[in-house]
Amino acid sequence: MKALVLAGGKGTRLRPLTHTSAKQLVPVANKPVLFYGLEALRDAGITTVGIVVGDTAAEVRAAVGDGSRFGLRVTYIPQQAPLGLAHCVLISREFLGDDPFVMYLGDNFLVGGISGLVDAFREGDCDARILLTKVAEPQFYGVAELGPGGEIRGLQEKPEHPRSDYAIVGVYTFSPVVHDAVRAITPSVRGELEITDAIQWLIDNGFRVDSHLVGGYWKDTGRLQDILECNRIVLEQVERDIAGTVDGLSELTGRVVVAPGAVVENSVLRGPIVVGADAKIISSYVGPFTSIGRRCVVQNAEIEYSIVLDGSCVDGVSRIAHSLIGRNVEVSRAAGVSNTHELMIGDHSRIQVRS
Ligand code: G1P
Repeated sequence: MKALVLAGGKGTRLRPLTHTSAKQLVPVANKPVLFYGLEALRDAGITTVGIVVGDTAAEVRAAVGDGSRFGLRVTYIPQQAPLGLAHCVLISREFLGDDPFVMYLGDNFLVGGISGLVDAFREGDCDARILLTKVAEPQFYGVAELGPGGEIRGLQEKPEHPRSDYAIVGVYTFSPVVHDAVRAITPSVRGELEITDAIQWLIDNGFRVDSHLVGGYWKDTGRLQDILECNRIVLEQVERDIAGTVDGLSELTGRVVVAPGAVVENSVLRGPIVVGADAKIISSYVGPFTSIGRRCVVQNAEIEYSIVLDGSCVDGVSRIAHSLIGRNVEVSRAAGVSNTHELMIGDHSRIQVRS
């Protein structure tokens, strides 16, 4: 069985981060979302992986390489434009050959792995097995309508009036018959070849499509609050590990990770948090559910429930919360006495200041 991992797309809801980097590489507990998916595939016994890449191909290649450090063999499949999930299958025909495969959306975050789904697909004799989960706002997802025995009656992509609250999770298993389906369908109103329509085509043409309920936690990490929530979930699991240097004036409570080369001085760190390699936390408070990236500097500042990416500096500011701060960003206190905010921020940024 092979895997097709989708790591293209625009990631508009995570701008401005996605102006310069791939949404699948936003870190959760200092590890890119995409890596959790690659590890889940490996843990399900899959080694041959094709990654569909778009505008951010170079960055994804630099992060994942040939896949050997995940125990995978990775092939890259360039997609010229984001024309839909079924289009990704269409352009991957040669790579996939006639093998059954798992399709994994690189921005989906699943706790608990995918072995249950993959094993059930391997043991069964259906043509597609899809993952479902109940959500509060099904209109933002593909939605499955189930019959009394749990069988799938029909699927709709982001319906205005959903017929159920079962959302389609972005991990699918297919037999090679799906190649006929993706060739048969036409673009949706949003101009994309929808995988939801391809699965509906399978149902309409008498192929067997089974469903599987997500056992653990799932999020599509498309929005800020989802990324922060995933960060919280992963940090809930970390074990205390102090490899860096912590001085006697600092107070560390609970599950705190301080990576090698990081320095903590005169600070209060309340776990669960992770501090990346070579970061410096000086005379600051870092509160629960915060991930501080590599080489960051946090000084005379307070921050909690946030993610700070590599190489950024937060200096003299309190208190930052519910925030996602990009790479090599500087957040500092304005000089002088007047009560002004001095900003130089990228396109599509969102700043909420309390003045
Ligand atoms: C895609 C699918 C949708 C599915 C969702 C899960 O949506 O089209 O059916 O529920 O992924 O993340 P998209 O992220 O392309 O809007």
